[in-house]
Amino acid sequence: MVNFDEVINRVDSDSFKWDAANRALGSNDYIQMGCADMDFKAPVEIIEELKKAVEFGIFGYVTQSKTFEEGIIKWYQERHGVEIAKQSIVYTPKVVIAASLCVEAFSRPGDSIILNSPYYPPLDEVSLANGRRVIEPPLEEREGRYVMNLEKLETMIDSKTKIMILVSPHNPTTRIWTQEELEQIADFCVRHKIILFVDEIHSDFVKSGHKFISMAAIKGPIQDLLVLANAPSKTFNVMGCQISYLIIPNAKLRAAMSTELDRIAAYDANTFGNALMKVAYQKCAYYIDELNSYIDGNEEFMRTQFKRVLPKAIIKEREGTYLLWVDFNEQFSSEAQMMSFFRKAKINFLPGSHFGPHFHNFARINIGCPRATLQEVINRIEQAL
Ligand SMILES: Cc1ncc(COP(=O)(O)O)c(C=O)c1O
Repeated sequence: MVNFDEVINRVDSDSFKWDAANRALGSNDYIQMGCADMDFKAPVEIIEELKKAVEFGIFGYVTQSKTFEEGIIKWYQERHGVEIAKQSIVYTPKVVIAASLCVEAFSRPGDSIILNSPYYPPLDEVSLANGRRVIEPPLEEREGRYVMNLEKLETMIDSKTKIMILVSPHNPTTRIWTQEELEQIADFCVRHKIILFVDEIHSDFVKSGHKFISMAAIKGPIQDLLVLANAPSKTFNVMGCQISYLIIPNAKLRAAMSTELDRIAAYDANTFGNALMKVAYQKCAYYIDELNSYIDGNEEFMRTQFKRVLPKAIIKEREGTYLLWVDFNEQFSSEAQMMSFFRKAKINFLPGSHFGPHFHNFARINIGCPRATLQEVINRIEQAL
């Protein structure tokens, strides 16, 4: 059993989640629950593989290991029931870089990109920074579930709409799109000849009772418009090793993305990312299974405690990820009031306004941490009340 209860102090480890946020807030006293990485050690198999790479002592240019594609194929087959063709896999350093290159490859300045709100901000920025417009239809809540309104979206697009960016499972709402929803999105893109960039980076975090379906499993012409991105980074908490990949079934699209990767000279892998790929998908499935149970327990803990200490906060239904999407509108009169309360409690997370214009006074709270850290969060809330 992995000991997810182990509390590890990450302050002064140059952690983006802890140190960058502490520096911005001017204090090391905060509990950081913002940036989506977790306070858990990676699987021992990965740590051992990285040690081997360090002990080897030469850190020259790297070509992908011979098993790079093998692991991805095995993972998609065993975890998601999809056959991935070896030639459709393309190495990329980071999912957000891949998204940016996809925007460059398949649209021109002045074209528009669809990205549902609330959104993971870097995916908005890759379009804006490349001089594209972003169409940001807000997800709509129906029977407690966030859904896309594709009929409304039909009225928002035009001939210059070239790409849809779909985050699946969705960050920050945690939605895991159903087969029917994926088929409807696929149909929409096919009808309008829109390239579909699907970011499946959170696909391994599935709450008990839910099932993730990959866009790679949706049959038909969408496969010729699909650029699917994924990485082992969230699953095994190894974001700092910077390795990710694309699955692009269509050869022309794949060639266009490879040209973009060459343009920025992103053809050689990182020593550590490459090393971990040898074992992550081959040997570490047990880790994510145990982690999913632990996260389910963390959610249950937070729900029980929030009912007691912040009874008007509404934790939205979690389907996947290790995030809670919380509506504080009944608890606090404004986002400023919400943030000031949590500043007083020395707890930091990302407010709704971080994820676009439509969800003020919401919060995305990262529960990828030991239960004891969550207990400390609750203690601090109680003290601050
Ligand atoms: C939806 C989503 N995509 C991409 C990323 C970042 O991926 P990468 O570090 O590979 O660019 C994150 C990180 O939080 C994310 O939540």
